Amino acid sequence: MKLASDHLPHSKRDQLMPSQVLRLLALLAFAASTAMATDPTQLQDFCVTDTKSKVFVNGFVCKNPNDVTENDFFFSGLNITGNTANQLGSKITSVNALNLPGLNTLGISLIRIDFAAGGFNPPHTHPRATEILVVLEGTLAVGFVTSDPDNKLFAKVLNPGDVFVFPQGLVHFQINIGMGNAVAFAGFSSQRPRAIIVANAVFGSKAPISDDVLMKAFQLDKPTVDSLKAKFWADNN
Ligand SMILES: *[C@@H]1O[C@H](CO)[C@@H](O)[C@H](O)[C@H]1NC(C)=O
Repeated sequence: MKLASDHLPHSKRDQLMPSQVLRLLALLAFAASTAMATDPTQLQDFCVTDTKSKVFVNGFVCKNPNDVTENDFFFSGLNITGNTANQLGSKITSVNALNLPGLNTLGISLIRIDFAAGGFNPPHTHPRATEILVVLEGTLAVGFVTSDPDNKLFAKVLNPGDVFVFPQGLVHFQINIGMGNAVAFAGFSSQRPRAIIVANAVFGSKAPISDDVLMKAFQLDKPTVDSLKAKFWADNN
C-alpha cells in the first residue's frame, strides 16, 4: 500500500499532517468495514460446520476433515412445499451452513420461497449477501430500493423462468400477484445471509425502541407508535 507520505515534498516526507493522519485512519476504517461486509474467502478446500462445537468464531468451527462424508455436502427436501399458513402467506426454506454443513466458509447458500395467493415477503435486507431469484411457478411483483439520498425503486413483475437480482444490503420485497401459489428459488452470496425485516426490526425489537425515537423517525403520534409496537410481526424464516 502506498502511504500518503509518498506524495509529500522531501522536507515533509517523514511527518504526516494531522489532517492526513485522520484521512488515513478514515480510509483504514472504511477498508476494514468493507472487508467485513461479505463472507470471507476460504483458506482450505472445505470447513464443514461442526454443529456440536461450543466455540464461537466468524462462521462455524470446522469438523475434523477425516470425519467429513459426502452427506456433509448434501441436503434433501427442497421439493417440499413450505407451509404458508401464516400472517405473511409465505414460507422460506433455507439451505445454509447449518443444515448443509459443507457450505461453511464457501460464501454461498440457497432458499426456496413458497407463496400462497396474495402472500408476500416484506421489505427486508441481507446485510452480507446479494440475492439472485428465479421464479418457478406463479407471478411475483418484486423490487428493491437504492440507498440514500436517491431511494430509487427498481421493480418488476416476474413469471416462471424470470430471474431478478437484489444487490447486497438493499431493502427489497416480493409479493405474489397471481391467482394461485407461487414458488421461487434464490441463491445468496453468503453461507447464511439471514435477514433484517424492516418492520420487525423497527417495531418488534426486543426490548422495544423508545416511543420518542420511533415518533420522530416515522413522524407518528404516540398512539400510532404504540399500536404498531403492540402488533405481532411475523417472520417467515
Ligand atoms: C421429496 O424428495 C424426497 C427424496 O427424494 C422424497 O423421499 C419425497 O417423497 C419427496 N417429497 C415430495 C413431497 O415430493
